[in-house]
Amino acid sequence: NLSETNSLVGEWLSEIRNIEVQQDRMRFRRNMERLGEVAAYEISKTLDYEEKEITTPMGIANCRVLKSQPVLATILRAGLALHQGLLHYFDKADHAFISAYRKHNHDGSFDISLEYVSTPSIDGQVLILSDPMLATGSSLVKTIEHLEEIGKPSHIHLVVAIACTVGIEYVLRNTKANLTIWAGDIDDELTAKGYIVPGLGDAGDLAFG
Ligand code: PRP
Repeated sequence: NLSETNSLVGEWLSEIRNIEVQQDRMRFRRNMERLGEVAAYEISKTLDYEEKEITTPMGIANCRVLKSQPVLATILRAGLALHQGLLHYFDKADHAFISAYRKHNHDGSFDISLEYVSTPSIDGQVLILSDPMLATGSSLVKTIEHLEEIGKPSHIHLVVAIACTVGIEYVLRNTKANLTIWAGDIDDELTAKGYIVPGLGDAGDLAFG
């Protein structure tokens, strides 16, 4: 939980959730990016590094650099701003894009429809998968299942702005992957229609209309 300790994350989340501040779409997207940036920095502490000698104008410096780049993946369309934040820090990474959306049935229930998947090789790589909302968890589980048919990442980091407890449990129960979930904040309630309360509303609509 990225807002568990005192930091600016709490401030950004208060704006992301605020129905009045949400009217400023650019601020909403930028705050999502900032969350992605902080998550990238926290995840960077879990990755592997190697020593590298770097020539400066004055001599040789011993630096620690990433052994290999993670792959950044996001779920269209709401995930784009979070993804952009992650990309600001992991600027050399390869990218995967997946479209998943809720296809509503007549009885009010919904299925997750996965229609577009474009991914580089993810086998044996660290995968960072972003989506602002982890509600029922079905989008993420379906996406992970699909990606794992293509290749098996060594570790998957899920980055979400708001998660709910039921969704986290569902993801952990239904994926065998080596998984870490990084959430801006965790809410307790999920409505029968699959919306997080208090949550923030519809992240895709708020970012892109
Ligand atoms: C939202 C959100 C997640 C999904 C979360 O996307 O961005 O992808 O719902 O719900 P789940 O955990 O219950 O699967 P939505 O279907 O609204 O599409 P959008 O990104 O195009 O707005």
